[in-house]
Amino acid sequence: MPRKILLGVSGCIAAYKACEMLREMQRRGCDVEVVMTANATRFVSPHTFSALSGRPALVDNFADGADPIPHIRMAEECDAFLVAPCTANVAAKIAAGIADDLLTTCALAAHDRLLVAPAMNVHMYESPATRQNLDALRARGVRVIEPGSGYLACGDTGKGRLADVSDIVSAALDPAVEAPLERLPLAGRKVMVTAGPTVEWLDPVRYVSNPSSGKMGFAVAKAARDAGADVTLVSGPVSLDDPDGVKVVRVNTASEMLEACEEHFDGCDIAVFAAAVSDYRPRMRSERKLKKGVDGESLACIEMVENPDILATLASRKAPGQFVVGFAAETDHVVEHAREKLQSKGADMVVANQVGEHKGFREDGNAAFLVSDRGSLELPYMPKDELAAKILEVACDNFKVC
Ligand code: PMT
Repeated sequence: MPRKILLGVSGCIAAYKACEMLREMQRRGCDVEVVMTANATRFVSPHTFSALSGRPALVDNFADGADPIPHIRMAEECDAFLVAPCTANVAAKIAAGIADDLLTTCALAAHDRLLVAPAMNVHMYESPATRQNLDALRARGVRVIEPGSGYLACGDTGKGRLADVSDIVSAALDPAVEAPLERLPLAGRKVMVTAGPTVEWLDPVRYVSNPSSGKMGFAVAKAARDAGADVTLVSGPVSLDDPDGVKVVRVNTASEMLEACEEHFDGCDIAVFAAAVSDYRPRMRSERKLKKGVDGESLACIEMVENPDILATLASRKAPGQFVVGFAAETDHVVEHAREKLQSKGADMVVANQVGEHKGFREDGNAAFLVSDRGSLELPYMPKDELAAKILEVACDNFKVC
């Protein structure tokens, strides 16, 4: 049976992208029906969606037709209801349970299979009202597909651009959309994740660091959030936006990262240490810029001292029921070194990845071995979002047996 998707289109400039979505879902074997708000019809004609889907795109609960109660029939027939683009107004109505047109009545009736892909101006997106509405939807198990950042149709730059069509379609096709919130694998669990590099200052203009972009750790935090967890992300300096629905603590140095992790570790069920923490820092931090010539000696020979090992420190205080996942960034003998780290750092599982030029750091994808006392599992190269979901899936399986 083809997967049946009800596509809800609300009124914003990104409505034209719903045509691409519809086509992509059809390409992936879905049967798609379209419901639109009246405002959406100002951007794209219902005839366009009717022609593309091969069935009437509906707008009005009371239109003459064979179907006297369309919203109930549409909700009952669909495997997932995707509202994309979802405007601030429609998100607010769904959050409040307001059902005053065909799209929002469908949303109420299909509340347990609902996904929304917000698209709006950055200021509207960042307004406390919209934040609260999207948080309320998430807390009810509605999958909120985070918008991207960039240049917006209104001329502003920031977060609010409709997510990539292929990411939205993949989310709509994920069978987990139908899982009630309490059945999500990490519902009711607390997860702490570290991400990004640390920077260790020598003077106000120089520091020791590494090329971590934070992509891996942020992907783990988002995957944990999507699996229903209450997530705290402790991140070194990166240029990524705070993921929605995740508590983010920004730090700079390894000592600051340790302090933040100590604050959040005790209450968490799973801790994932994906950050690339500097092992050493300069012994002295000058308050003024060190000058070539004048301070030549201090610059030519920098004395370093060891940083605290955050993973080892916290794993040593692990309470029964807590599950600790470390990473191992290696250039060679990846699995052997990861095994050593599993023991020496006291982790329950280590994600071993090869790093080097164009490998591991900064890339959008990665390959890894998941190493634990139960053996090692090879995960081939895939996008970091997918890798993160796999890491958590295996962590959850191990977590249940530990
Ligand atoms: O951020 P990206 O650009 O997406 O890149 C991802 C990544 C390559 C950074 C990630 O996949 C990764 O490998 N993270 C761990 C990097 C690292 O520091 O590895 P390590 O082998 O040096 O450390 C082993 C473990 O100990 C890690 O979990 C690390 O967080 C932890 N550690 C290390 C040193 C230290 N002082 N404290 C720690 O907690």
